Amino acid sequence: MSTATPGGSTPSSPSRKRSKWDDGSPELPPPKKKSTKLKKSARAAGTAESSTSSRNGTPPPSTAVHTLSPRPGIAPGISRSRFVPLRTAHPPFLPCRSVYAYERLNHIEEGSYGVVFRARDKETGDIVALKKLKLDEEKHGFPITSLREVMALMVCRHENVVGVREIVVGDTLTQVFIVMDFIEHDLKSLLSVMPNPFLQSEIKTLLQQLLSAVAHCHANWVLHRDLKTSNLLMNNRGSMKVADFGLARKFGDPLGDMTQLVVTLWYRAPEILLGEKTYSTAVDMWSVGCIFGELILNEPVFQSKGEIELLASIFKLLGSPTEETWPGYSALPLAQTITLPSQTHSTLRNKFPLVTHAGLDLLSKFFTYDPEQRISAEEALRHPYFSEAPLPKHPDLFGSFPSLAAGEKRRKPFESPRAPQRVADYKLLTDFDLV
Ligand SMILES: Nc1ncnc2c1ncn2[C@@H]1O[C@H](COP(=O)(O)OP(=O)(O)OP(=O)(O)O)[C@@H](O)[C@H]1O
Ligand SMILES: [Mg+2]
Repeated sequence: MSTATPGGSTPSSPSRKRSKWDDGSPELPPPKKKSTKLKKSARAAGTAESSTSSRNGTPPPSTAVHTLSPRPGIAPGISRSRFVPLRTAHPPFLPCRSVYAYERLNHIEEGSYGVVFRARDKETGDIVALKKLKLDEEKHGFPITSLREVMALMVCRHENVVGVREIVVGDTLTQVFIVMDFIEHDLKSLLSVMPNPFLQSEIKTLLQQLLSAVAHCHANWVLHRDLKTSNLLMNNRGSMKVADFGLARKFGDPLGDMTQLVVTLWYRAPEILLGEKTYSTAVDMWSVGCIFGELILNEPVFQSKGEIELLASIFKLLGSPTEETWPGYSALPLAQTITLPSQTHSTLRNKFPLVTHAGLDLLSKFFTYDPEQRISAEEALRHPYFSEAPLPKHPDLFGSFPSLAAGEKRRKPFESPRAPQRVADYKLLTDFDLV
């Protein structure tokens, strides 16, 4: 893919030093002009097309359509269906730019699938984030997961999805970078440094933003499959962006089998834990529930070392599933093989004593066992929780925090002078003091 601006270079130039990203790179060669040969053959094809129709004597059906709805830019007489988009309607395919178009500023984080850096665009001065895909170990070419990550980021463009700018390449075939807008915080790091947890009104805004991003992805047939607080970015203007589409994939109707090696353990839905292969959008909604709970508690709802332990803590919080609450539960591949202590009732209210009735209702709808009955992102956005007081806070009113990703340190709180020691603490006032 390339959404690159013109001016790209070939991915590998042997004269360059390897992996010296912030070296002064030689000027990039201008893009090659289209060869006249190509132009000639294209023109020839066009001529052939028009000459065929004139040879037939009767115009093909497409010409008739075209006559009904003439499109600007098509010479009269050229037959083309109006359903076929013009060639000029497509952006031209261009080579990817070089990573040397960016100056590396600092390392942000190394995740399982990539290393993320903060960088500056040498041309525009824009600050961006570059995710270098981990391709060093690849023996079978470019991994499908990385292709899916790029595809999903492009398909799911939305104000609450991190913006992808282009793909750039380094000196070797294993150096491929996704260039994204730089966002100051990820929600996990932010929660760990914030002096106070988010207010109810702030949690509502964040949840609304997350839900509209997820609804958008699902409407575009994309499952994220790794929603968690470290994959949610937040800028200093109160805007949340869903990131890390490294496990995302397209889904279809009917659903096909999918891998169970998805979603970070603590955010993983029970149907995946129990071996269901034809899961769908509901797996993302379970993760949304875990994030909602984490924002309220200021710590992850389910924390466990393994899958069985996780299932046990889910059952303990929500009560064990039954055929009534989850039709088809006992037929799930792993439902018969594991025996867990049975819990008859939910203890969700005990865990969230301060949340309102509507808030708890929404949480329990995210934590519905049966994926068929679990609330969708679209439905959740219409839940009464968002229209009861306190209303969602406007993003502009959110406080800003120093960005760890940009290497900013927390300013020490202003040291105010100490209150004077109370005299009475060490001596009794005398009449003389009062004069
Ligand atoms: N656009 C961005 N702006 C600022 N920081 C970012 C950006 N994208 C990612 N990060 C930071 O880098 C971290 C890792 O990024 P990402 O989740 O995309 O990589 P990953 O290798 O797939 O991670 P993991 O598998 O551990 O979840 C994020 O948690 C966030 O802190
Ligand atoms: Mg991540």
